[in-house]
Amino acid sequence: MTQPHAPIPYGEHDFDHEDSNRSGNPHFADVLDVRLKRRRLLQGGIGLAVGLGLLGSAGALAAPGKPAFPGRRSPLGFTAVPVGRGDDIIVPPEYTFSVILPWGEPIAGRYPPYRDGGLNSGAEQEQQVGMHHDGMHFFPLRGDALHRSSAGLLVMNHEYIDALALHPDGPVTRNGIRDADQVRKEIAAHGVSVVELRRRGTEWVTVRGRYNRRVTGATPMTIAGPARGHAKLRTRHSPEGTATRGTLNNCAHGFTPWRTYLTCEENWAGYFVNRGERPREHSRYGVATGSGRYRWETVETRFDATPHGDDPALDFRNEPNHFGWIVEIDPFDAGSIPVKRTALGRFAHEGLVFSQPRPGERLAAYMGDDSQNEYIYKYVSRESYTPGRAPGTLLDDGTLYVARFHDDGHGEWLALDLDDPTFAAAAREAGVAFADQGDVLINTRLAADIAGGTPMDRPEWGAVDPNTGAVYFTLTNNSARSPDRVDEANPRGPNPYGHIIRFDEQAGRSDATAFTWDLFLLSGTAEDSLGPDLQPLDDDNIHASPDGLWFDHNGLLWIQTDMSGSQLGSGPFGNNQMLVANPATGELKRFLVGPNGCEVTGVVSTPDGRTLFVNIQHPGEGGGSGWPGNRLKPRSATVVVTRRDGGIVGT
Ligand code: FEO
Ligand code: CA
Ligand code: CA
Ligand code: CA
Repeated sequence: MTQPHAPIPYGEHDFDHEDSNRSGNPHFADVLDVRLKRRRLLQGGIGLAVGLGLLGSAGALAAPGKPAFPGRRSPLGFTAVPVGRGDDIIVPPEYTFSVILPWGEPIAGRYPPYRDGGLNSGAEQEQQVGMHHDGMHFFPLRGDALHRSSAGLLVMNHEYIDALALHPDGPVTRNGIRDADQVRKEIAAHGVSVVELRRRGTEWVTVRGRYNRRVTGATPMTIAGPARGHAKLRTRHSPEGTATRGTLNNCAHGFTPWRTYLTCEENWAGYFVNRGERPREHSRYGVATGSGRYRWETVETRFDATPHGDDPALDFRNEPNHFGWIVEIDPFDAGSIPVKRTALGRFAHEGLVFSQPRPGERLAAYMGDDSQNEYIYKYVSRESYTPGRAPGTLLDDGTLYVARFHDDGHGEWLALDLDDPTFAAAAREAGVAFADQGDVLINTRLAADIAGGTPMDRPEWGAVDPNTGAVYFTLTNNSARSPDRVDEANPRGPNPYGHIIRFDEQAGRSDATAFTWDLFLLSGTAEDSLGPDLQPLDDDNIHASPDGLWFDHNGLLWIQTDMSGSQLGSGPFGNNQMLVANPATGELKRFLVGPNGCEVTGVVSTPDGRTLFVNIQHPGEGGGSGWPGNRLKPRSATVVVTRRDGGIVGT
């Protein structure tokens, strides 16, 4: 999401990705001898050169032992789009686009028509596309090769709401109580949409079929994995701590090799309030103390996590502990119950990307915790992956690790597991008691503090290079990193522009506990940036705050930006945008610019690579947009991009 956001009309928490990490973990600048760093700099080491403004030497971004940059250059096959500040989509001249699935389009139930001006009811919103589109995936419907790319399920997240656009005149509160139907509508505008699409010629149309579904902030769900049934998950709704309702603030996403969708709960903490003493499960995540973001607690008691009495099964003190998870949804069964997979940890989950699944190897999933100075994680399944076999415990039984990036270009994965002697000893030494592994997972951030993860500049999306297996992560920006807390992996303090880090697992193994890393890209102005080609960014690719990240089937890396209001308004970057990088050549070119006030987030193609779906989130944030179509209320929507000659997009 954009940071900072446009003014939120109520609620004390404004989605700020605040630094709630008080662990005092050693930032590298604290623990490394300055002379050693200088010597490394002289040897062409990464990172510090940036912090000192000494960019430009070839090899500055290459980790030790890595070729700095292969000389091959094959141009990306499109004309770079210039920086733009208009209220429309701009794509290269070789391309064309159309808009589908805007917020409010009917997709399920009785298919109630969208009414401009925010006039639909809560019940109608439950049958319509949600608001604020984000991560998405295209699941081809089974069929021959021809049809795999002309029919499928588009599944997408709806991260949050803009109450001014959702309702005719913004939020209504009477005597301190929110309007009940407005709250119903707001909860329904969150979550996930599953929509069957078919291609008719060059047009994509919604099919009113059996797969279509809305998953919302109220959908019944079950809890699986080590924290299932935990004492800290007991609520009035589920005294056993096994069931819950809804998913919230679903940002990026993931998908499994067994064709399910994963939605990731990011800034969920602000939806709740706890006016009593906050346990670590609340405070380390920033659960509000005054009122919830949208004051849903005035209508739905489950959003009030203030303890009343002694019995957690009589109130909702543990309701926030039901959020912050990865949620698995079977898009091919509209009646299936989504599952919260607690083995994957609890934090501000941006997204999840698997390593390339290889039969007989464990499955690895990489995840970012998008808050200032939080961590990158890896989950490794205990069992190995077997294609075609039911996934069983692959997402319920495994080891969660946090990443530590050493300044010398090496890194290690640190287990967050009570059975791991190093972690258990570190917890003892820190004086922190965990009741069991479920407790560790509910308190993932605390566990990562104890293990000694490297605090990062807001980890957003991850992506895995299909050609090399390298894992990439966007680090969108970090205003809270002070100059004395920089390290080689987060070399700017503060970091207003963001960067992209990448790493290779040792021996290419998904279950490796060591890796090597380097910096792929430093976003920013021409004076303060370094592209993948080791040159400063220029007119064709200048940008800031990288967020969305996706590798297409050809190994091109698509980068989407989430620049904040001031970067949009006064910087040289124009509106939010999407770029394409070729990691094999170091090229980087701007492919798309979004309308005013929007974030560009979420991208996927059909298997044939000829249709690209791109999500436009919150057009008109801060005013000044009626996109698409200049209506009363701006609407998040999906943009379908194709090449005029019908070719593969990007190449
Ligand atoms: Fe919802 Fe981290 O962006
Ligand atoms: Ca956003
Ligand atoms: Ca963001
Ligand atoms: Ca994001």
